[in-house]
Amino acid sequence: MSRRILVTSALPYANGPTHLGHMTEVIQTDIWVRSQKLRGHECRYVCADDTHGTPIMLKAQAEGLTPEELIAAVGAERRRDFADFGIGFDNYYTTHSEENRAYTERIYRALQAGGHIVRRSVRQAYDEQAGMFLPDRYVRGGCPRCSAPDQYGDSCESCGATYTPADLIDPVSVVSGTAPVQRESEHVFFRLGDFEPLLREWTRSGALHQSAVNKLEEWFAAGLRDWDVSRDAPYFGFEIPDAPGKYFYVWLDAPIGYIASFAHLCAHSGLDFDEWWAPGSSTELHHFIGKDILYFHALFWPATLHGAGFRLPTAVHAHGFLTVNGQKMSKSRGTFVTARHYLELLPAEYFRYYLAAKLGGGLDDIDLNLEEFATRINAELVGKLVNIASRCAGLLQRGHGGRLAGALPDPALYAEFVAAGTRISAAYENCEYAAAMREIMGFADRANGYLDRHKPWLAAKDTARAGEVQAVCTQGLNLFRVLIGWLKPVLPRTAERAEAFLGAPLALWHELGTPLLDRTISAYQPLATRIDGAQVARLVAAPAAEVPAVEPPAAAPAESPAATIGIEDFQRLELRVGRIVAAAAVPGADRLLQLTVALGDGERRNVFAGIRAAYAPESLVGRMVVVVANLAPRRLRFGVSEAMVLAAAGPDGQPFLIAPDAGAEPGMQVR
Ligand code: 2FM
Ligand code: ZN
Repeated sequence: MSRRILVTSALPYANGPTHLGHMTEVIQTDIWVRSQKLRGHECRYVCADDTHGTPIMLKAQAEGLTPEELIAAVGAERRRDFADFGIGFDNYYTTHSEENRAYTERIYRALQAGGHIVRRSVRQAYDEQAGMFLPDRYVRGGCPRCSAPDQYGDSCESCGATYTPADLIDPVSVVSGTAPVQRESEHVFFRLGDFEPLLREWTRSGALHQSAVNKLEEWFAAGLRDWDVSRDAPYFGFEIPDAPGKYFYVWLDAPIGYIASFAHLCAHSGLDFDEWWAPGSSTELHHFIGKDILYFHALFWPATLHGAGFRLPTAVHAHGFLTVNGQKMSKSRGTFVTARHYLELLPAEYFRYYLAAKLGGGLDDIDLNLEEFATRINAELVGKLVNIASRCAGLLQRGHGGRLAGALPDPALYAEFVAAGTRISAAYENCEYAAAMREIMGFADRANGYLDRHKPWLAAKDTARAGEVQAVCTQGLNLFRVLIGWLKPVLPRTAERAEAFLGAPLALWHELGTPLLDRTISAYQPLATRIDGAQVARLVAAPAAEVPAVEPPAAAPAESPAATIGIEDFQRLELRVGRIVAAAAVPGADRLLQLTVALGDGERRNVFAGIRAAYAPESLVGRMVVVVANLAPRRLRFGVSEAMVLAAAGPDGQPFLIAPDAGAEPGMQVR
């Protein structure tokens, strides 16, 4: 029976570049969604940027942007990154939307009407200079237990103690550098404890992996405390309707963003919202998240939904963190890999495959081991899988004009391949992708074994054995088609390219039951190629010692030829990283675009750049560029140009904007 399934990934905060940790989550989800679609189920996948909260507000301030500008810029980059990794969202939205505001208010009022909202006063660190209450992480000071200096306001990285900012020795606000004071303010709380019986029952419903159930048992044992869902102004978020100057805490409206993104999809697709979100709905609701936010999704979220009259999640699938070469991803260690940096070096689907080969359904961390990465891609994707297609297609093209035989020489072997689909689709269903990949590669070994036994490349040397070559290659290509069909959730683009050369698009897995016979295939194009370890190693930054020092200036010749400049000339240039925050055509100037470029610390420049022939203005918003920041302002007919954006000139003068590697921030000096 066909199921109707709504799926979400956790909403990434809109304050930084997409990294491989984000990608791990959306790829895991995307694989699941694609597998459901291939099984013939109706499956919708929605997500959004998580746009509210203090960090985003402060980051925007630091970059001299409004929060709306920052989230638009990050959102544009994020969408590009996700699209380039082949993530097939049905809708990608933002939590800063009218739909989200409306649902958040509606849910709040419903919780209030149910008696689940209470107010009480809270004492909190307040920065008098910045005029704001400080989240715990924005106060630093000495650890009250071990005296380690410069610790966060909630816990000590040195001894592991947990405490409140008021306990710190000599606390300092991260925002202004001044000592915070303690101030009272009334906050709004959600009474989570009201929902304990419901949550205990829901936990038993099979919604969670056993490892997550165990965590929940610990939390029940510790007691469910009221949840503070309000924050004082200034705050970037939704104002609470009956509490002026107070805002919903970002974690209240973030998951409601799942609902809002889906509502937005409904408005554009004719889906019926209530069929998916009303209590007792026969549809399914699956959330994919990282283990760090299990508390929010397995306690607050079901309680909020139930309290406000919505259905409960069918399942919350929590995964572990991505580590790189066994280390936490970290900028200082050079193991922080942005999605864009990866894409500059390697095909997206190699990461998708590697991840699938490592992912089980539990909370274990997933290690990206760079050596193993190269080995697996080369041995499995290229050596085992693609090799089947390239060998058979080549022989079939050369001897038979690409014509497949009219029958399979070994239909029983084909039937065995097809039959394994039941196990493989069950593994996908249970998020046991590693098991699915093992099974598929086991069958790839068998397909290669079949070819090695029949050696069509030897038979091809004897014209009398042409029929045999055609038959064996037809068998080989059909086995390949089944394998790439099963891998389609993981390798959607490669699978499509394979389908194109086989001339047989695959929409549903059950189509694999019928082999391709008596038809002509197109010329084979390589589907995957070997990678070398050095290429993969470039994913992580070289350790500091290996980074070449700045070239010492060459000894100046007695008389510098006019074509060279001295280092001191170069040093007069102030090159800085900037982010384009607005771009528009200039009426009456065919070549020009008017750009607003943020240079960090609130600084912005108006720039007229002659790049209109190559760039649509909307494609530029969010892009990072390199600018000459100390160029004297130039008055043009349309206004003043206050800097120059660097671009390379192609052979016909086409401009190519120069961009820093992903992860660079506006304001950085370019040397
Ligand atoms: O932890 C995070 O990155 C959050 N932005 C996840 C939000 S998921 C959902 F609840 F919105
Ligand atoms: Zn300590």
